[in-house]
Amino acid sequence: LFEAVELAPRDPILGLNEQYNADERTGKVNLGVGVYYDDQGRVPLLKCVHQAEVDRVQAAGAHSYLPIEGLASLNKAARELLLGKDSEANTSGRAFTVQALGGTGALKIGADYLKQLLPNAKVAISAPSWENHRALFERAGFDVVEYAYYDPQSHGLNLDGMLASLKALPDSSIVVLHACCHNPTGVDPTPAQWQQIADTIKEKNHISFLDIAYQGFGDGLVEDAAAVRMFVQMGLTCLISTSFSKSFSLYGERIGALTVVTSSADEAKRVLSQVKRVIRTNYSNPPTFGGAVVAEVLNSEKLFALWDAELAQMRSRIKEMRDQLVSKLQAAGVAQNFDFVLTQKGMFSYSGLTASQVDRLREEHGIYAVSSGRICVAALNSQNIDGVVDAIASVLKK
Ligand code: LMR
Repeated sequence: LFEAVELAPRDPILGLNEQYNADERTGKVNLGVGVYYDDQGRVPLLKCVHQAEVDRVQAAGAHSYLPIEGLASLNKAARELLLGKDSEANTSGRAFTVQALGGTGALKIGADYLKQLLPNAKVAISAPSWENHRALFERAGFDVVEYAYYDPQSHGLNLDGMLASLKALPDSSIVVLHACCHNPTGVDPTPAQWQQIADTIKEKNHISFLDIAYQGFGDGLVEDAAAVRMFVQMGLTCLISTSFSKSFSLYGERIGALTVVTSSADEAKRVLSQVKRVIRTNYSNPPTFGGAVVAEVLNSEKLFALWDAELAQMRSRIKEMRDQLVSKLQAAGVAQNFDFVLTQKGMFSYSGLTASQVDRLREEHGIYAVSSGRICVAALNSQNIDGVVDAIASVLKK
C-alpha cells in the first residue's frame, strides 16, 4: 500500500521548529515560527490566563462534551471583541461565531464550507501570504491565485496593483485578507486604503475571508479590528478567522473562532446549521479547557483589563526590539536602510534577506528564519539581539 509514497517536504514554518529542536549548537535562535517570547526567551504564561486556569481547576468541572459549535460564552465574547458589542451585525443576530481549533482550524472550517457553497470559485491570497493559506485552500479543493500586495521597492503596499488584481478576478471570488499585522510582511493598508479595497470587493461581489491572528499586536485590540468592522458596517458578507494562540499565549490549546457575517438572522441560522455539519464530520466538537480560559478572561472586567495591559506590554517589547534591530544594524555598518522595519506591524519583519542569506544564517550562525526572509521580531531579546545583528551583518556583507 505505502511502497510508492513519496516523502513530503517539511512544512515551511513548523518544519523549521523540527530542524531547530534537532540543532545541538548553543546560542541558536529561532526567528522562524510566529511565537511571542519574553525578554528571557520564554513563551509567557499571561497572568490573566493563569488566574483563569486556577479558577477553572478550582471549579472542578466535569469533562463533558461541548456543543458542536463550542462554548457559547466564548463565541459571544469573541464576536463582540471582533465586531464591537453594539455592532448591528451582532445585535441583529446576522453574525454568528463557532469555536475553532486555532486560527488554522477556523480557516479550515470556513474553506470546507465555502467549497460546498461555491465549488467553482477562485480563492485569491496576497502575494506573499502566510505559507499555509495556499496549502489550506488548495487542500479544500480550490484553485488558489495571488493578488498583488507587497512592493519590494518601497517595502510597502502596492495598492494600485492590489486593486487591479481584485478587479481582474472573476466576480464572486473568495479574497483572503489579513485584517491586521500582515503575515509575513507586517505591511497593513491605512484606513483610507482599506476603504478602497472594501469598495472594490463590494463592486466585484467578492466574498472576503478576513484572517485576524494577531489582534492586539498592531496598535491595540479595537484599532486592530478596524478593517473587520469597516467591512461589516459596509454590509459585506464575510467570514472572519480569529486566533487566540498569540494574543493569549495559548498556542498549544488551539483556541480560535470562525465568525460568519450573513445578511439576516434567518440566513445566519441556516448557515450555522451547515457549518456545524462541517465541524461534526471533522472533529465532532472542540476541546473545553482553553476555550473556558479565554471565555473567562473575555467575560471578566478585571481579567480583561489585565489581558489588555499584558498585550500592551508585549506590543511595546516588540516595538523596542524593532528599534534596537534597526539602530544596531546601522551601527554594524550594513549598507542597506532598514528603517522600514519600524513601520511594520505585528510580530514579523519581512527583512529583505534572500533565501540563500537565510540558509547562511542557519548554517553558519544557528539563526533560523523563514526562507522568504520573514523573521519573528517577537523572538528577539536583550540576550540574543547582538548575535543576530552580527550574523545578519555578516551575511549581508559577503
Ligand atoms: C506563523 O506564521 O509562524 C504562525 O502562524 C504559526 C503557524 O502555524 O504557521
